[in-house]
Amino acid sequence: MDTMQDIIDLDRYPLDRPESPEWQALVARARAELARDGMFNLEGFLKPEAIGTAISALVPRFDGESFTHARKHNIYFRKEIPGLAPGHPALREFETVNRTLCGDQIGGVVAALYDWPGFARFLAAAMEKPVLHTMDDPLARVNAMAYGEGEALNWHFDRSEFTTTLLLQAPEAGGEFEYRSDLRSDDDPNYEGVARLLAGGDPALKRLTLGAGTLNVFKGKNTAHRVTPVKGARARIITVFSFYERPGVRFTEEEQRGFYGRAA
Ligand SMILES: [Fe+2]
Repeated sequence: MDTMQDIIDLDRYPLDRPESPEWQALVARARAELARDGMFNLEGFLKPEAIGTAISALVPRFDGESFTHARKHNIYFRKEIPGLAPGHPALREFETVNRTLCGDQIGGVVAALYDWPGFARFLAAAMEKPVLHTMDDPLARVNAMAYGEGEALNWHFDRSEFTTTLLLQAPEAGGEFEYRSDLRSDDDPNYEGVARLLAGGDPALKRLTLGAGTLNVFKGKNTAHRVTPVKGARARIITVFSFYERPGVRFTEEEQRGFYGRAA
C-alpha cells in the first residue's frame, strides 16, 4: 500500500499537516492565484516514482478496455441555445476525441490520492468551500483520459465551478492548454466574443504547457478552454478528480452513458 509520502511531495506541499503555517501559506497562495489567474498549479505535486507507477497501471487498461469518446460539439455542449440562430458562429462545431477510463478501472496511486481526506481538505480550503466530498458514482469519481496523436479536447466551458486535474504524462508536442479568461459572465453570454475566439481572432488567448506531475485547479465555467491536438507517439494522459460540496453525489444513468458509454 502506498503512503501519501510516496505519492505526494509533502515536503513541498504539506497536505498532511492541515492548519500548520506551511499548509496555510499554501492555501493562501492557491487562493491568490485563483483570484488573479482563475487557476493554480502545483508543479511536481506527484512524485516521479508515483507518476511511473500510475502510468504503468493505466496504459494497459487504456489499450485494452478504455472507452473511445469521439463527438462533435459546440462550445456549449448543447445543440441549441435559446436566442441564438442555428447558424451563429458561436455555435461552430469542433471534434473532441480521447480514450477514457472510469473510476472502477482506476486503482493504485490515483485512487489512493482521491480517497485520501487530506486531498479534499486542502482543495476545499483552496476553493474556499466549507467541505468537499468524493463522489459515490463508481464511474465519475475519478477519470483518466489519454489523448493520442491528433486527438484533442476542444473548446468548451466547464459545468462545474472548479476542475481538478493531474497531468501524468505530457506529449512530445501539442496538447497545450489554451484558455480565454472570463470570456463570458453569469450575466453576459458574450456570443460575439465567443464567435471571435472560435474564429481564431481573440488576442487575449493564453497558452499553458504543463509538466507531468502538476496538479491544476481551474475555474472553467466562464473561461473558454481547450487542449490542442497532440503531436507525436506519446499520449497526453491526465486524471480528473470530482468533488462536490454535498455527499453522495452520483450521475444519472443517462449522464453515465453519455460520458462513458455504459452505466454502473
Ligand atoms: Fe474543461
